[in-house]
Amino acid sequence: MRSFLGRDILSLKDFERNEFFRVFEVAEELEPIARSRRNSNLLAEKTLVTAFYQPSTRTRLAHEAAMHRLGGHVTGFSDAKMTRAGDFYQESIKDTVKMLEFYGDVIVMRHFQQGAPAEAAKWASIPIINGGDGWGEHPTQILTDLYTVIQEKGRIDGLKWLAVGDMRMRTMHSLAYALTQFDSQITFVAPPEMSLLPEFKEELSQYSLNFREAEHVEQAIGEADVILVEPVVQPDYTKSRDERGKEVGLTPANYKITRELLATKAKPDAILLHSLPRMDEIPTDVDITHWSRYWQEAFNGVVMRMALLALVLGAME
Ligand code: CP
Repeated sequence: MRSFLGRDILSLKDFERNEFFRVFEVAEELEPIARSRRNSNLLAEKTLVTAFYQPSTRTRLAHEAAMHRLGGHVTGFSDAKMTRAGDFYQESIKDTVKMLEFYGDVIVMRHFQQGAPAEAAKWASIPIINGGDGWGEHPTQILTDLYTVIQEKGRIDGLKWLAVGDMRMRTMHSLAYALTQFDSQITFVAPPEMSLLPEFKEELSQYSLNFREAEHVEQAIGEADVILVEPVVQPDYTKSRDERGKEVGLTPANYKITRELLATKAKPDAILLHSLPRMDEIPTDVDITHWSRYWQEAFNGVVMRMALLALVLGAME
């Protein structure tokens, strides 16, 4: 297995099957630190730089919390407008990371431009973690989701997935790439204008991913072991800022997971994931059903980032 030391985490297309399992093992090993709300000193000599060109609650703060749990330091920005990258100069990725690499030991970057973290990785002498790039990928989120599935179901192989939402989303791309490494079957349900792009479907077929598409969640929820939901009412991920207007659409029933649907059609032991934020695609009365696992995902998000930081910074092999 390739070493994680110094490695960029840009895409789950780069991950081999045994590497997923190694990341899950390390996450399990570090989990008690977060569970007991302690801070250790594993990364006491290291600093994380956060470079967020787009808003984030979970991804940025989970990385920061993970670094604190491991005894490390954090610096960075959460709004590029406060830097030279976002003002008059619009400083390039290259010039920006050529500075940031001296301010810390690892950079987590979220950017509205697909491929920006990969561009950063070309120039930086320290690891770059992709915290979501345009419509590209969101590898740390899907590693969190897969870890949650392992924790809840004890396996990923042999499970049937239902993915609902906008298939142009970065999470969906990372999910599909990840599942190519497992014996999994997945059904994608999306509005026609948000369905999987033909070239992406072609790529998934080449990787032998066992997938199909359906029009309505009712057509696939009955057989799903894992139901992963994302909004269909959402911002344009290629914009640096996106203010919400007064008129916000409602999610059509085809893409909505209600308490009634779960109670009448879902397997009793299925689990429901959502990376959040949500609109109305999972109404809040689902939160207290036995299917919901998104709050566990939130906790696991910190644990997964602890594992990734420990691995790329060489505190764990
Ligand atoms: N799940 C996720 O990426 O959330 P944030 O946009 O808040 O980071």
